[in-house]
Amino acid sequence: MVWFALRHPRQAWQFLRAPSALSHLLGGLAAPAEIKGWMREAGAVTQEINRRLHEASWKPGQSSGSTDSQDRGPVLYAVTRALRPTVVLETGVANGSSTYYFLSAMKANGKGTLHSIDLPPGTDTTSEYHKADMTAIAQGHGSGWLVPAELRAPWTLHLGDTRKVLPKVLESTPKLDLFFHDSEHTYEAMTFEFNSAWPCLQPGGVLGSDDVGWNRSFFDFVAANHLPTVRVGGFGWTRKPLPLKV
Ligand SMILES: C[S@@+](CC[C@H](N)C(=O)[O-])C[C@H]1O[C@@H](n2cnc3c(N)ncnc32)[C@H](O)[C@@H]1O
Repeated sequence: MVWFALRHPRQAWQFLRAPSALSHLLGGLAAPAEIKGWMREAGAVTQEINRRLHEASWKPGQSSGSTDSQDRGPVLYAVTRALRPTVVLETGVANGSSTYYFLSAMKANGKGTLHSIDLPPGTDTTSEYHKADMTAIAQGHGSGWLVPAELRAPWTLHLGDTRKVLPKVLESTPKLDLFFHDSEHTYEAMTFEFNSAWPCLQPGGVLGSDDVGWNRSFFDFVAANHLPTVRVGGFGWTRKPLPLKV
């Protein structure tokens, strides 16, 4: 952590203040101390993910491109614990780190279903992984292989391009509590996903995205809709306003 703070002081500060910033965004659904506790609770998931990745003949220097770092995944876990969502939709699965955090948090909540969208393995020819001659998914495995059998019951994996698959998934699950983007990080694809998911998000629902620094899509989206934001490392979070009480 000290090494990380020295190399990335701004991000380290964002992680440090994540519990209070997220608590504020969530309108007091959970106190900062609770969020901090859940981030700690997620440490067991991080350990298990890293153990499984290590066993999966991961190439040296290969990036899983995923949320399985000490702080990032636990933020997904804590947001899910605090929000207690009924329906979650994520785009971009790869090995399944984010999927694992969402499903673990839902199991602890005792409720929730997850829909995930990912390209079929081997067809992602445009991403940064492909360009760098790396695969985002460990060889010989399929999307979400990290997720253990005992967490899979509330999970549906939809394979295909998000531009085609997302509208269909939203047709069948028109009420979302949490949407998380981590698929194709182009301005066009991210804007498409945010604009598609937003009308389906329940009041008080949360929209998150990884890698918001790659282009301006997240910032343009929140500015156009006058929304509050929280940055935690590469993540950007916003929340759909609740109707005003009169
Ligand atoms: C960064 S990885 C996802 C990491 C994952 N969320 C995690 O935490 O481990 C991006 C994934 O999105 C998929 N992807 C890229 N472009 C896509 C698209 N247009 N539609 C659907 N999935 C896409 C890639 O195949 C890859 O599996």
